Amino acid sequence: MSTLLVTGGAGFIGSNFVRRVLADTEHEVLVLDKLTYAGDQMSLAGLPGPRLGFVRGDVADAELVGRLVDGLDPATDAIVHFAAESHNDNSLAGPRPFLDTNVIGTYTLIEAARRRDIRFHHISTDEVYGDLELDDPAKFTESSAYRPSSPYSSTKAASDLLVAAWVRSFGLRATISGCSNNYGPYQHVEKFIPRQVTNVLRGQRPKLYGTGRNVRDWIHVDDHNSAVLAILERGRIGETYLIGANGERSNREVVETLLELLGRPRDEYDLVGDRPGHDLRYAIDASKLRAETGWEPRFTDFRDGLERTIEWYRANEAWWAPHKDAAEARYAELGR
Ligand code: NAD
Ligand code: DAU
Repeated sequence: MSTLLVTGGAGFIGSNFVRRVLADTEHEVLVLDKLTYAGDQMSLAGLPGPRLGFVRGDVADAELVGRLVDGLDPATDAIVHFAAESHNDNSLAGPRPFLDTNVIGTYTLIEAARRRDIRFHHISTDEVYGDLELDDPAKFTESSAYRPSSPYSSTKAASDLLVAAWVRSFGLRATISGCSNNYGPYQHVEKFIPRQVTNVLRGQRPKLYGTGRNVRDWIHVDDHNSAVLAILERGRIGETYLIGANGERSNREVVETLLELLGRPRDEYDLVGDRPGHDLRYAIDASKLRAETGWEPRFTDFRDGLERTIEWYRANEAWWAPHKDAAEARYAELGR
């Protein structure tokens, strides 16, 4: 492959992906990003200009997408589709943009990809499988049933099904990956870990939804992205791969660890109202990915990863401060 068209490359995972690709491979990158409230070109600052292009635009804009895809070479190039409306709380408050971007945007891209026979990788989420019981040893696998809970996860499920149908009906050369909760630098302050870290850095208390017993399976964003590269290089067309690194923690455990690492008492947080339909637990079995691609996570010390993430937010207030007030204003409207 030589050029990767990376949608959503100014968002959290996409910008970390672009950084990795430019550092670790010879590929050129063309980012297509609408720069919604969640996108920030500062996340791509300092990256080598000659191998990186940027187009501001909407993945649901068929004319623009068609033009960009016309510039790709089917023999060497690929589309890596990260762009999405990604936040559950926002999807509960206003679902429409989730349909436009996650469903129509994905449809627009796969139509362009199939017309030119371009290799396509679709970034998805474990949330398409709904949730697991807290005290159940079961984990999600690629054959778990789809039963999404929120407007966000139902639009991601819809987009997965579109991609799978385009593979079968039109021979689209596509793979899908479903990852668990990511953490690391450049994550928007609306998300759980950055919200709590930046609250404490501003002298405010972390906010735990409900009882705080819900469990998420945390993975460092660089491990997600190395898995995406492994799938692009060695994944089988038409397959879905789940990405996870055995990082299950309750939200309460995460907040207590953050408080400790930030030098505050471990119980200095507030319990607030719960998210409607709040998924209880996610957990990934990544055996298929490991067996077929040889991928292994590198950042498996969660406490160390959190410590480095805190340091990143401490050092980069200029990046997150412009987003913080708007995010907290949205939460204030929700009473959370
Ligand atoms: P994010 O919200 O940080 O970034 C999304 C990016 O997409 C932003 O740069 C935004 O400007 C862009 N975008 C939104 N709508 C667009 C449109 N219509 N056209 C072009 N660009 C648009 O999201 P993220 O957390 O980096 O998630 C990236 C992808 O990974 C999403 O598909 C998400 O479903 C998936 N995912 C996320 C996680 C996680 O823990 N964050 C886990 C698994 C999968
Ligand atoms: O599992 C993958 C998914 O992880 C991705 O598909 C989504 O794009 C991503 O946003 C994330 O979804 P979650 O809803 O799990 O992430 P969020 O950061 O919003 O919340 C993580 C957990 O923390 C969840 O149980 C809700 C809880 N929470 C969240 C916030 C913002 C709190 O307790 N307090 C908070 O302030």
